Amino acid sequence: MQSINIDKIKKLDNVVNEAYKRLRTNVQLCGEEVKIISVTSNIPNEGKSSVAFNLAKSLAEVGKKVAFVDCDMRKSVLIGRYKVNKSVKGLSQYLSGLNDYEEVVYATNVENLHVIFSGPVPPNPAELLGGNKFKSMLRKQKSVYDYIILDTPPIGSVVDGVIVAQNSDGAIFVIGHGEISHKFAKNTKLQLEKCNCKILGAVLNKVPTGDNGYYGKYYGKYYGKYYGSYGSYGSYEKE
Ligand SMILES: Nc1ncnc2c1ncn2[C@@H]1O[C@H](COP(=O)(O)OP(=O)(O)OP(=O)(O)O)[C@@H](O)[C@H]1O
Ligand SMILES: [Mg+2]
Repeated sequence: MQSINIDKIKKLDNVVNEAYKRLRTNVQLCGEEVKIISVTSNIPNEGKSSVAFNLAKSLAEVGKKVAFVDCDMRKSVLIGRYKVNKSVKGLSQYLSGLNDYEEVVYATNVENLHVIFSGPVPPNPAELLGGNKFKSMLRKQKSVYDYIILDTPPIGSVVDGVIVAQNSDGAIFVIGHGEISHKFAKNTKLQLEKCNCKILGAVLNKVPTGDNGYYGKYYGKYYGKYYGSYGSYGSYEKE
């Protein structure tokens, strides 16, 4: 298998690290049949890609075999954000038949973590993700990996996210603190349910930690919080 170096992996501070450990534990508690997990949200920028990548890394760190698949073929940030050390082939090239599976899956410098990048923007992302090739790729991966984490575009903008979620065993719903209204979040949840997507739980992301300087130290002041059960998600939407 080809391998790449992901250079710019941010070191998470303790609070964030703990939050990811809790998220990892909650994911593991979802049961053995939950292996393909999509990470979704309503609007851009709520933190799907960050949560998806850090969850994948966190599972790999405890020895799980993990594939991270970047299904955001319209606007991938992965290569730029993590300073991947060479040019790579990706999902769009595999799904459109240009490349074989072995040519698009990469081992990384994070032990146990394999990555499939999104590839160049195809003219028909939703069609590619809705096709049989994507389904059978996930089926094959299920027999190789303990977890397959799927990053997706926002479901409020394009249909791709829902299609990916439908192909997963369950979705993690990321909510950017202060970025969408409760009503909006509730609509998204209903939209996912209508499509028979199982929601595993919600991550309330970008939560201000409360000490001074809300704007001053952006990264230091936020952390991700995981609501493991559907029940606590329910209480979130009560207002
Ligand atoms: N918990 C957090 N604390 C601080 N910054 C964060 C946090 N989560 C994400 N960010 C930042 O917010 C921005 C958007 O994050 P990210 O790309 O993960 O969102 P996204 O939902 O995947 O966006 P898109 O829908 O555009 O793909 C990035 O600059 C990221 O570094
Ligand atoms: Mg993203």
